[in-house]
Amino acid sequence: MKIEKETINILAIESSCDETAAAVVQDGRTVRSNVISSQIALHTLYGGVVPEIASRKHIEKINQVIGQALEEAGARLQDMDAIAVTYGPGLVGALLVGVSEAKAISFATGIPLVGVHHISGHISANYIEHKELKPPFVCLVASGGHSHLVIVRDYGEYEIVGRTRDDAAGEAFDKVARAIGLGYPGGPKIDKLAREGNPDAIVFPRAKVAENEYDFSFSGLKSAVLNYLNGCRMKGEEICQADVAASFQKAVVDVLVEHSLHAVKAFGFDKFAIAGGVASNSALRGAFETECQKRGIAFYHPSPILCTDNAAMIGAAGYYEYLKGVRHGYDLNAVPNLQL
Ligand code: KG4
Ligand code: ZN
Repeated sequence: MKIEKETINILAIESSCDETAAAVVQDGRTVRSNVISSQIALHTLYGGVVPEIASRKHIEKINQVIGQALEEAGARLQDMDAIAVTYGPGLVGALLVGVSEAKAISFATGIPLVGVHHISGHISANYIEHKELKPPFVCLVASGGHSHLVIVRDYGEYEIVGRTRDDAAGEAFDKVARAIGLGYPGGPKIDKLAREGNPDAIVFPRAKVAENEYDFSFSGLKSAVLNYLNGCRMKGEEICQADVAASFQKAVVDVLVEHSLHAVKAFGFDKFAIAGGVASNSALRGAFETECQKRGIAFYHPSPILCTDNAAMIGAAGYYEYLKGVRHGYDLNAVPNLQL
């Protein structure tokens, strides 16, 4: 499809989990506004995301968030060239709010509808931050639901070379945080506390998956932390939370760095990016910074606010889908287990 217009503006909507978000993105790379209404405080009361509460909050917030995104961009709805929306993967009830909203706007205005894969969005956050970045490159996507090592062949074209066999990296952070009494969401809390701890204090396992050297497994590590905590409690030994946090985090970082950079070299790339909530982890970013420099690999990472869930990343991914001619009908549905 040939696009004649010089500037393409996309209104993007994201509601796959516990963030109600809308953004206006120009030409896939320039963020004109990026509004995020987080429900974290609400879910903290329950120690994790409660799907029904998430859906209800999305319904309450979505119109306001979209209105604010347009206002902050100084844009009018009728000036948008497309409505991009996350349609999976995620919580079905949460996804449905964004999808229904996007369909309603598209139907009322005639603006084309473009469904976007949430993980494609996470990866595309890198295009916003690094205007010069173009595929192909290797990307590690580490979020609450996914740990994927992906070869980005072209815009929106992905080949998964490694994935987790059990827990996602973010899930491991959340579960360990809960076990040491830090509460939800675990990732940022462990990140902060680990700065005061000794990462070599406790030796936790670094799992290798025999059948695929690029796959991950974090459930053994999580169990090792739980066993360590139980052992201390039974022996009446004091637990140093900061040391546990730092040692656990080091084990996750070591595995993510080793598998990722091994893949970058083995598949013959010299560009590597990270994406997803865990990509905002300071120790992980630091380790990749150092190791990529040593190996002559160019390292790309979005700023922390673009790593966790947001709609700007959906606008970036949606732009490249739009250019390819992807248009969805009013039968677009939420797909909770959508594959990349
Ligand atoms: O990408 P994201 O916002 O949502 C999903 O698509 O899942 O990722 C959320 C996950 C949570 O598990 C959270 O604990 C983790 O990312 N996370 C972090 C950090 N910030 C968020 N993990 C480690 N260190 C952080 N600083
Ligand atoms: Zn996400």
